[in-house]
Amino acid sequence: MKAQSVRILTLTRAHVAACAAIVAGSEPWKTLGEGLDFSPFLSRRGGAPAQARVAIEGTEVAGFILYSAGPVFARGAYIRALAVVPGRRSRGIGSLLLDFAEQSIAKHAANIFVCASSFNRRAQGFYRKAGYSRVGAIPGLIIPGASEYIFWKQLIPAIGKRGSGPSPRSRRPAS
Ligand SMILES: CC(C)(COP(=O)(O)OP(=O)(O)OC[C@H]1O[C@@H](n2cnc3c(N)ncnc32)[C@H](O)[C@@H]1OP(=O)(O)O)[C@@H](O)C(=O)NCCC(=O)NCCS
Repeated sequence: MKAQSVRILTLTRAHVAACAAIVAGSEPWKTLGEGLDFSPFLSRRGGAPAQARVAIEGTEVAGFILYSAGPVFARGAYIRALAVVPGRRSRGIGSLLLDFAEQSIAKHAANIFVCASSFNRRAQGFYRKAGYSRVGAIPGLIIPGASEYIFWKQLIPAIGKRGSGPSPRSRRPAS
């Protein structure tokens, strides 16, 4: 059943415990043996580069996404993490969060990068379906025997010649 009345809000301290619980109960973090530090994503400053949103279904946290608003690598923004409460998956909530981040990123960067662990088949399928291509692999980056696959999505096609056409950099920063 598709998720109903999901709101996307800015992540605050009040949401962190629920988001940390999702991380604690989910791949890839269980296998990687690590959690997530939400503190760099809690800034309330307008236009802060580290952005975080939660999906609220009814009154409960259903998922979250952490990302850079602007380019941080190879003319691309970076999605640091995305997760949905295990019991609420496959109902479109992950896609809602990803769509939100992509629309926000498109104001500042032409590309998006995200990593998915080699054992995290579900996330790889999810990103492929959303238009991301696997463009690299970093073997043993976090744990031996597992690679981090780099996925890339081009939001704005390369224009080839420097200086011609609109540049995301010339656009106004988001509030
Ligand atoms: C990846 C994740 C965020 C997806 O969230 P979700 O709410 O289940 O995703 P959606 O319901 O929006 O699914 C979007 C599409 O991806 C597709 N999809 C999911 N898993 C897939 C797979 N293994 N192969 C192909 N497509 C897949 C679904 O079919 C769905 O499309 P459809 O509903 O039209 O069929 C969720 O599975 C999750 O939290 N995983 C654990 C954390 C994680 O791995 N995060 C990513 C790395 S940071």
